[in-house]
Amino acid sequence: MRARVGVIGGTGYYKFKTVPTIREEEVDNQYGRVHVLFAEYKGREIAFVPRHGLGHTIPPHKINHRANIQALKDLGAESILATAAVGSLRKMVPPGELVLLSQFIDMTKRRIGTFYDEEGVPFKHLDVTEPFSEPLRERVLRAATAQGIHIHPYGTYVAFEGPRLETAAEISMMQILGGDVVGMTIVPEVVLAREADLSYAAIAVITNYGAGMVPGGISKDMVRGTFAAATNTLERLLLATIDLLLE
Ligand code: HPA
Repeated sequence: MRARVGVIGGTGYYKFKTVPTIREEEVDNQYGRVHVLFAEYKGREIAFVPRHGLGHTIPPHKINHRANIQALKDLGAESILATAAVGSLRKMVPPGELVLLSQFIDMTKRRIGTFYDEEGVPFKHLDVTEPFSEPLRERVLRAATAQGIHIHPYGTYVAFEGPRLETAAEISMMQILGGDVVGMTIVPEVVLAREADLSYAAIAVITNYGAGMVPGGISKDMVRGTFAAATNTLERLLLATIDLLLE
């Protein structure tokens, strides 16, 4: 059976909580091997890729985004719904809230951000004026309204290289430059999905304020704990969106 919808789960989200995983497979392609979970939802298969690996062993700068996207495409995915734990750059948007990403600023440094990485092969300059799929974003928003889930409809994601967190100065800079949330993985994932002609939208869960915005540091427990509290809502939103995609 082919999976028309793919989910890429970020930090804190490694498989569906309320939908059974029916099998797991190593899926190979020219870029690498991807561990894919298949969930059965209303008689259909959904392919789920935990971006950091099941045991969160793949750090952000080591994620094989090309292999992940290619695997989902090969499995028949037309749409990808991604999740990400993020820091907020806006005091008005506190931890626990959801943001549907609409733009990005790329501060990554050493990632392969394209499928056009070979000389002598035709390439294109992808238009990323609007990097996320607007029809897919609209579906997420419709699903959120139907479910009574509050999600910020727009947000500019700043992608840092990681795995370290940001300095207070980096966070200040990005506030001035127009960023709304900060993370380490959505770029180049969204770009590769677009190059592969897949619809891609990403739901960010705010797990903390950016470095230096409030007293105290940012801890793994803070990120995990806040994400965990939002997981049920996140999954409800994902499944309601998938309902719209499969109808
Ligand atoms: N910065 C970068 N990535 C993150 C953060 C953050 O503050 N929180 C969760 N992922």
